Amino acid sequence: MSATIIAVANQKGGTGKTTTCENLGIGLAREGKHVLLVDTDPQASLTIALGYPRPDDLPVTPTDLMTNVMQERPVNPEETILSHTKGVDLIPASIMLSGLEVSLVNAISRETVLKQVLESVKSQYDYILLDCIPSR
Ligand SMILES: Nc1ncnc2c1ncn2[C@@H]1O[C@H](COP(=O)(O)OP(=O)(O)OP(=O)(O)O)[C@@H](O)[C@H]1O
Ligand SMILES: [Mg+2]
Repeated sequence: MSATIIAVANQKGGTGKTTTCENLGIGLAREGKHVLLVDTDPQASLTIALGYPRPDDLPVTPTDLMTNVMQERPVNPEETILSHTKGVDLIPASIMLSGLEVSLVNAISRETVLKQVLESVKSQYDYILLDCIPSR
């Protein structure tokens, strides 16, 4: 199994990206697919929608995973993946993601940092859906 990765992105805010991710993800899970949702938005709307009202209190965040990639330390996405009752897994977001942008500026191959995190879990899922921030 090697997941199909879909980024739900739109330049404009408030156009249904998060809602699409949530419903598409849960719909695919109902069809028996293994689905991972990735919240890449520091506003954490998808994380909150899936029932985690205080994402800023999570002990390990995707920011830690991407920092590990940049510092060439081992990456264990399992540490951040939350299992949701609707049959989808979730890598949640937190406000820490907004600071990550600054460290990414100087990172080598910065455009592949998230890709490297996802590479390590790709074999466990049929679909990985990314909820993006506006204007990306
Ligand atoms: N198909 C739809 N029909 C009606 N309302 C919708 C639909 N999809 C989303 N909405 C509503 O539109 C609003 C914005 O949706 P959503 O949060 O999914 O957008 P977004 O693109 O993720 O926003 P942001 O750019 O802030 O991340 C929400 O109130 C949501 O309930
Ligand atoms: Mg959104």
